[in-house]
Amino acid sequence: MPKMLTKNCNDIIKEWDERAQGDWRRSVWAEASESEEAFRASGERDYGRHIRPLLSAQGIDPGKLVALEIGAGVGRMSEFLCRNFRGVVAVDASRKMLRIGRKRVAAKNVLWLCNDGKNLQAVADASVDFIFSHGVFQHIPCAEDVAVYVREAARVLKSGGWLVFQVMNQPHFSVGPWKAALIVSHRFHVPRVRIHRGGALEVYPIRIGAMRKACGESGLEIARILHRFTQNAWIWARKAAIQAEADPVEARASRLAQTP
Ligand SMILES: C[S@@+](CC[C@H](N)C(=O)[O-])C[C@H]1O[C@@H](n2cnc3c(N)ncnc32)[C@H](O)[C@@H]1O
Repeated sequence: MPKMLTKNCNDIIKEWDERAQGDWRRSVWAEASESEEAFRASGERDYGRHIRPLLSAQGIDPGKLVALEIGAGVGRMSEFLCRNFRGVVAVDASRKMLRIGRKRVAAKNVLWLCNDGKNLQAVADASVDFIFSHGVFQHIPCAEDVAVYVREAARVLKSGGWLVFQVMNQPHFSVGPWKAALIVSHRFHVPRVRIHRGGALEVYPIRIGAMRKACGESGLEIARILHRFTQNAWIWARKAAIQAEADPVEARASRLAQTP
């Protein structure tokens, strides 16, 4: 598939480092950037919108669990993960964003981890229960790098653990002269420049099919897809739970019984 990339991962990291030195609230979450109170409230609201529904639907008590956030930034969401989960690993590619996060979030149960923008190398296999990502994958220029993150998430999740993430999955069937451009953009992961209150940002649409493939190949089963064809599509994926043998003696007996 042809790649029409204008930037690579290092360019993006540099840009986020630069944003951390400017009006970082506006760059991270423009809609709630007028004050620290509004910014903090947006994190609490988004925890209620995007995390609590899954925990309630699955009957999960996060108090004993470890969460990992991909692209934690200044900890807008990590703060509320910390309040609810036993421990949090806040991963981001921008050292400068994380530096602000460390100052903003007083919680002691968080580990701030700077990565290379591509994988979760420093995190052990099967070591976390829940992974979350919001407002991050749309900034990654190469669709394959997003798939790598999905595979990495599958690696570090414990069996039965959940990956909950947002991707930009806007429709490519609009009418008018832009139609062809939108189809190409969606298909080949070409950036669209979105002008918003935080300035101009390149955002990259992602096909749900590519995410299905990445999940399927890495042992994650998609349980729900929400708000498909919007800027804020959400995927809930679960790592297959390993069935424990409840009674080893009974299990052995049943295996013997099946032996011809
Ligand atoms: C719009 S902010 C969102 C931050 C946070 N998820 C939130 O909801 O407040 C995007 C964050 O993603 C980080 N980021 C961008 N590309 C990344 C990558 N490839 N790997 C890890 N973090 C990345 C940026 O440094 C920035 O902190």
